[in-house]
Amino acid sequence: MSILTNFINGKNNSCHPVWFMRQAGRYLPEFRKIRLKNPDFIKLCLNSELSSEITLQPLKRFDLDAAIIFSDILMVPYGLGQTVTFKKNFGPVLSKFNTKEFLANTPNNFSEKLKPVYEAISKTRIKLENRKSLIGFVGAPWTLLIYMISLKTSENVLNVEKFKSVKININNILENLTEYLKIHINNQIKAGADVIQIFDSWASLIPGEDINNYCYKPNLDLVEYCKSKKTPVICFPKGIKRKYKDFVEIVKPNVINIDYNLDPMWVRDNLKKICIQGGMNPKILFQENKKIIKEATKYLDAFKDRSYIFNLGHGLLPDTNPDKLENLIKFIKEKK
Ligand code: CP3
Repeated sequence: MSILTNFINGKNNSCHPVWFMRQAGRYLPEFRKIRLKNPDFIKLCLNSELSSEITLQPLKRFDLDAAIIFSDILMVPYGLGQTVTFKKNFGPVLSKFNTKEFLANTPNNFSEKLKPVYEAISKTRIKLENRKSLIGFVGAPWTLLIYMISLKTSENVLNVEKFKSVKININNILENLTEYLKIHINNQIKAGADVIQIFDSWASLIPGEDINNYCYKPNLDLVEYCKSKKTPVICFPKGIKRKYKDFVEIVKPNVINIDYNLDPMWVRDNLKKICIQGGMNPKILFQENKKIIKEATKYLDAFKDRSYIFNLGHGLLPDTNPDKLENLIKFIKEKK
């Protein structure tokens, strides 16, 4: 078993494992070099040789305990037939999604379209040291829907008009999406992923009365699916504030990733008996090393008697200085 799975299962908890969301990405010059020659991001994700190479880039530089497969949560909408492009300084743009058609038909080439992702996982698993984890991931259904039918405005708030116009179908769409996410999870596990992370990056946009149906329920369904496959699962319902407590009690993932808006002391006292991951604001890495170490210590101290995986409260930002990240990783590793 890998360091991370052992740790999550409560074995060898004498140190804090470390990995970072978006550890393979634009802050690394070696990634930018490949990216420059591959302007189509989805095509790059479908190039199993290059995605495997990119996945391993941060592990060549740093003493990390896990790799996360270089892919994207939007590969699922791609597998379901949408075209996905990235507009500079704007973000992802997806072609129109016909929800009625989605509910009426079964796209049967889903796994086939995503095959290169699974091949990238197999290739990476072979090259990765045995004791290191390979993390597979999915977007939670609500977060995918946000992108699939443009449910948020460019100011990152819920498009209320749009929301009202689709509301009667949302439960059905989320349930349908969940079935494809299970296929995607299972394919990743079969290819060699030993941990799954579920990103619900836009859970904060769910109206209060709908949080159970749109967040807890679909996450629970996926968590139970991962558990049935004996694969540890990390949930990240970003931005739901104190509802993290209900989330943990209802969904019961193996690990909960906290975001940077949560006070680690509140987390320690309210999210009991669960392995915690992350928390530090990725913007802290723009400060000087001393300040970074001070902030990291805040998290290590708060969780010193707990199972704690060091990570951030969201992904690494493109302007992060890799040397500062290296310094931070060394500090965490020496602290054990
Ligand atoms: O290193 C890793 O974490 C693994 C790879 C990974 C990517 N995206 C690569 C990527 C993972 C786990 C994701 C998850 C993802 N993708 C999420 C959930 C986490 C989060 O950030 O909240 C979301 C919402 C997406 C959708 C997405 N993909 C957006 C909004 C964007 C554009 C904004 C941005 O940060 O550039 C992407 C593109 C993307 N996905 C890049 C990378 C490395 C940047 C592509 C580039 O080189 O331009």
